[in-house]
Amino acid sequence: MRQPLVAGNWKMNGSRASVGELLVGLKAGIGQVTTAEVAVCAPAVFIPAVQAELDGSPIKWGGQDVSVHASGAYTGETAASMLSDFGCHYVIIGHSERRAYHGETDQVVAEKFAAARAAGLVPILCVGETLDEREQGITEDVVGRQLDAVVAHCGIDTVGSGVIAYEPVWAIGTGKTASPQQAQDVHAFIRGRLAAADPAVADGIRVLYGGSMNPKNAAELIAQPDIDGGLIGGASLKADDFLAVCSAANR
Ligand code: PGA
Repeated sequence: MRQPLVAGNWKMNGSRASVGELLVGLKAGIGQVTTAEVAVCAPAVFIPAVQAELDGSPIKWGGQDVSVHASGAYTGETAASMLSDFGCHYVIIGHSERRAYHGETDQVVAEKFAAARAAGLVPILCVGETLDEREQGITEDVVGRQLDAVVAHCGIDTVGSGVIAYEPVWAIGTGKTASPQQAQDVHAFIRGRLAAADPAVADGIRVLYGGSMNPKNAAELIAQPDIDGGLIGGASLKADDFLAVCSAANR
């Protein structure tokens, strides 16, 4: 049985003060609310503070992006080894905002996945279609292509040591959530696609849903057979909301 994972994606939000307050709230509340695994993915500059606050707590932490390079003359980049050095367990890879605003191709995303694994991080690989792609009826083509690129570059076993997040781009930050059935359909497709390469990997890997998941809709989404938790943006910035999503992921 797959243990659900609820991961917060803070994106480019927060200040020293607000992050401190959020972490204290999460730490205080987490013990009682969930049997799910819980993590927060923070802007790189906050990671030392996150580590200082969460070390020894059940909450894991991670980054939101990583360089394809191990080290060197790459101004502005963060190496996977640096995230590991500050206790990160996870790193988000290929978020649609990185693909859209920073030109990350499927190939770059696959290289980032490999770089993260090489440093011992667990990548959370984001895949998902735009509204235009959904309306054209090519959701499975897009998601399949995004997955295949990483499997081809890293191998199915390496992919199996990560986490997948299905995030329909049209549902991110818009308040429009995929219906539980719409999400389940794509999650089942993702598992089927991986099963063609290795059924055991497909069975074991966690596939999270992301896109306007909140305390009101989380339980119904996570109840779907192929949805193993959530990647939470807006609702991860308030301790009460995030804890409520975590509690909806109890199994
Ligand atoms: P949202 O973001 O929950 O604010 O829609 C999710 C994400 O982009 O990971």
